[in-house]
Amino acid sequence: MTLTIDDRCKNLVQDLQLGQPEDVTNVVPLTGGVASDIARFDLNGQTLCAKFALEKLKVVEDWTAPLHRNAAEYAWLQFAAETYPQGAVKLFGRSQTQHGFAMEFVDGPDVYLWKAALLASAPDKGEAAQVGRFLGMLQAASARPDFDRGAFNNRDDFRALRIEPYLTFTAGRHPDLEAPLNDLAEMLYQADQVLVHGDVSPKNIMFRASDPIFLDAECATMGDASFDPAFCLNHLVLKAFHLPDSRETLLTNIESFWGAYVPSLDFGNPSEIERRITRLLPALMLARIDGKSPVEYLSDDNRCHVRAVAVGLIESPEDRISQLLTRLRDSFL
Ligand SMILES: Nc1ncnc2c1ncn2[C@@H]1O[C@H](COP(=O)(O)OP(=O)(O)O)[C@@H](O)[C@H]1O
Ligand SMILES: [Mg+2]
Repeated sequence: MTLTIDDRCKNLVQDLQLGQPEDVTNVVPLTGGVASDIARFDLNGQTLCAKFALEKLKVVEDWTAPLHRNAAEYAWLQFAAETYPQGAVKLFGRSQTQHGFAMEFVDGPDVYLWKAALLASAPDKGEAAQVGRFLGMLQAASARPDFDRGAFNNRDDFRALRIEPYLTFTAGRHPDLEAPLNDLAEMLYQADQVLVHGDVSPKNIMFRASDPIFLDAECATMGDASFDPAFCLNHLVLKAFHLPDSRETLLTNIESFWGAYVPSLDFGNPSEIERRITRLLPALMLARIDGKSPVEYLSDDNRCHVRAVAVGLIESPEDRISQLLTRLRDSFL
């Protein structure tokens, strides 16, 4: 029998010894994601958030993922809280049997989701630079020899959740691009230099008093430093296609992100990371058109435009973000 989200929250509270099941009130499911059951609820005067991993994702294409990714997500959130406490959710424990955990419900007058601000063309408060700086800092901390990789040896999960649906599936639909897309897939699978969040998207980043709070780390794995920046910048690129009035702000956001990310890195060679990003980013653009998780907000014309620019950048890549931005800007002329 499938449990209701209400029952799942009650069971979790009991399991984690946070209170009695009957203390759980006002359970409200949260929307936005495809990979989990997530809800807010009240417990003895506090509002908490419970998140449980789903085995079958809520997308059209058949796509399953292992439930133990919930443990990786919790470990990522713990690492973020240790590294940058002001940019992290408070955690209340995880239940192994329920594949779920409890965290603070982030709320308040100064709290907003970055995606909502971008889609509403809200005044830019430097969010992109904050995200770039935070990401670089986390990557740098995870590249240190004393970093505990124990919870993050998840390359097979990462393949199931990211490499296969985005790159391998897209390669199947674009036989001409099979070689570069499969090379990227292999590069991502083999890498283990830094901790990868795996879903750095504006819909998973809240801001509280100008600090970014990253959520939704269920793809967390040791991996390649290029993945998170490319994945995040891809969201800004796709929104630049979708929102002509915000286009220049969004493209400038990419420069701001980059300008703040690079100085946070104290490992590897930034130009090599940049080179990998300029290859991965167009592949991810194409993946959001022809992969298993297509972007929901683009018109048919915009999809064709994104596809054409992405294919051009995969066939003849740039080495620098600035050059890639020039190609993007030129495509809008
Ligand atoms: N701790 C939290 N506090 C407030 N809102 C949250 C919290 N966790 C998630 N949310 C909201 O719920 C949405 C879905 O959560 P997320 O962790 O991204 O799940 P999914 O894997 O389903 O995408 C987020 O985009 C965010 O708006
Ligand atoms: Mg999400």
